[in-house]
Amino acid sequence: MCGIIGYIGKKNSVGYIIDGLKKLEYRGYDSAGVSILQDGKLVTVRAVGKVAELEKATLQVSPRGTLGIGHTRWATHGKPSEENSHPHTDCSGEIVVVHNGIIENYLVLREQLTALGHRFKSETDTEVIAHLIEENLKHVRSGKEEERLLKAVQKTNKEISGAFAYGVIWTHTPDLLIGVKNQSPLVVGIGKDENFLASDVPAFLQHTNKVLFLEEGEIVLLRAGQVTVLDKNGDEKKPKPTKISWDQKTAQKGGYDHFMLKEIYDQPQALEDTLRTARADFGKILGLDTTAMRGLKQVHIIACGTAYHAGLVGKYYIEQFAGIPVSVDLASEYKYRTIPHQTKTLAIAISQSGETADTIGAIKKAKEFGFRTLAICNVLGSTLTRTCDSTFFTHCGPEISVASTKAFTSQITAMYALAITLGLANGNLSKTAFDKLYRELLRLSKSMGETVKMEYTVRHLTRKIYKADRFIFLGRHVNFPIALEGALKLKEVSYRAAEGFAAGEIKHGPISIIEKGTPVFMLMPQDGLFEKMLSACQECRARGAFVVAITTPGGEAQAKSVSDKVFVVPQTSEFLQPILNVVPLQFLAYWIAKRLGCDIDQPRNLAKSVTVE
Ligand code: F6R
Repeated sequence: MCGIIGYIGKKNSVGYIIDGLKKLEYRGYDSAGVSILQDGKLVTVRAVGKVAELEKATLQVSPRGTLGIGHTRWATHGKPSEENSHPHTDCSGEIVVVHNGIIENYLVLREQLTALGHRFKSETDTEVIAHLIEENLKHVRSGKEEERLLKAVQKTNKEISGAFAYGVIWTHTPDLLIGVKNQSPLVVGIGKDENFLASDVPAFLQHTNKVLFLEEGEIVLLRAGQVTVLDKNGDEKKPKPTKISWDQKTAQKGGYDHFMLKEIYDQPQALEDTLRTARADFGKILGLDTTAMRGLKQVHIIACGTAYHAGLVGKYYIEQFAGIPVSVDLASEYKYRTIPHQTKTLAIAISQSGETADTIGAIKKAKEFGFRTLAICNVLGSTLTRTCDSTFFTHCGPEISVASTKAFTSQITAMYALAITLGLANGNLSKTAFDKLYRELLRLSKSMGETVKMEYTVRHLTRKIYKADRFIFLGRHVNFPIALEGALKLKEVSYRAAEGFAAGEIKHGPISIIEKGTPVFMLMPQDGLFEKMLSACQECRARGAFVVAITTPGGEAQAKSVSDKVFVVPQTSEFLQPILNVVPLQFLAYWIAKRLGCDIDQPRNLAKSVTVE
């Protein structure tokens, strides 16, 4: 977690850094800080809370300098406090570091450095980096200061272990900003007479769309007019920058009060853009030829949180359309379970950010088994996409709100495209059946356009129920994961207790938590399970629940007879219906959180990318 940014150029770096931190706040917002090199000395300002607090504190000090680094923190080692906020310095106060990730051996290093006389000011793992560089500099006596710093950084990297990305400035090298990437994200923005270092592209996208995605173990040396990348052996390499097509506007709120709301409304476009790739040769994207697809014996899906729910829907798709057995695991569990060996396995990791530590760890385990690996991911150049054999990009644009919405529906769409492609390749689907399913998929974006019109109806209902202390979501078959997702969304942004269940399960326990007035949301499109859902409505209503039925045209009258409120979602095919059904639940979470005055885009205790285990 955490967001880092660095600037080196000809202008005052402070504004660039504060603006960049605001864009990175989704990565953590417990505290923030900047260090600016001003007249040969470091001026550091840190503040607990959001970047807005840091901005206020920085205005008071008004530092000026063309080289600076900044950090927004999601606390791992040490509570959120000013002392634990980054940037962190060495004993001399001449070396300053911002860091994202975890230094796993920091305790041992801290003890060793303390024994050597180093004095620590914080509880963080990060501070050992600054002191180690200081210590290593003592042993690199020859060469120019810039070479000495590089050597000290290289030695430091050999001594620290874990996943980390960091930026470092030394007062003796005023024209140099060094960045290090090892399993935590770090990208470089190349500008005109100015260059940037950041955890993610939106931090500098306003200034340049020329981006270098660093590889594991690389070090980057940034100067105002020059970028030098060294590979893990220390050899210079000449990577080609990527031009990012996202514009700044896409990464902004576009007139909506919150990113979450904007991103719900982005969904028709997000699906359209995701499907554009699916229209191309999907087999090629998968990195699988027809023979390989035909021979697949099993699929393992690995993901966390919302992406895991997309994986659960994907299981129904692959088993239905391709007839291949599928297991879906939470990435944090997959790593630790025994996996019976089986050749011809495809492991699919689903992740919006491509930086989720658990997902990356799990897919690495799948690789060790020799499984072919596929990422379904939204972020170009992310660690996951570089770890997997191939990637299907969801292309839904930057998702800034911590609560995932458009990435979720794009991930399910990608799973559907994958499932029917596998089905066609292995003969489980005839060409006629494939064409029919594919045509339905292509119509999805239009139906999504209709579905987002539901906001007003949902918003209206939330006035009545937003004070309830618990909410229940029920669904069956492909809509069961949507019940889980509806509950997760509501928990995340409104801090209300919410649970999702398979509707058939309620009588096996969960029904006991229903009281008079408990809102229960029923996902009940008109499909083969509609009758069963009608019964579930009655069971809940008999216990006093306030039942909201989410159905499709045609189901309205019957749903009305067993519920207190009916939402009608546009109809698509049975298997695509969950992609539309989640939309009213996204609006529901948004509006309940809004009425409760919650911080919707940055809910407490959460961060957008969970880059620690
Ligand atoms: C929920 C949410 C999280 C993420 C999860 C995985 O709204 O955002 O549950 O889905 O942390 O993140 P990615 O998809 O980036 O791997």
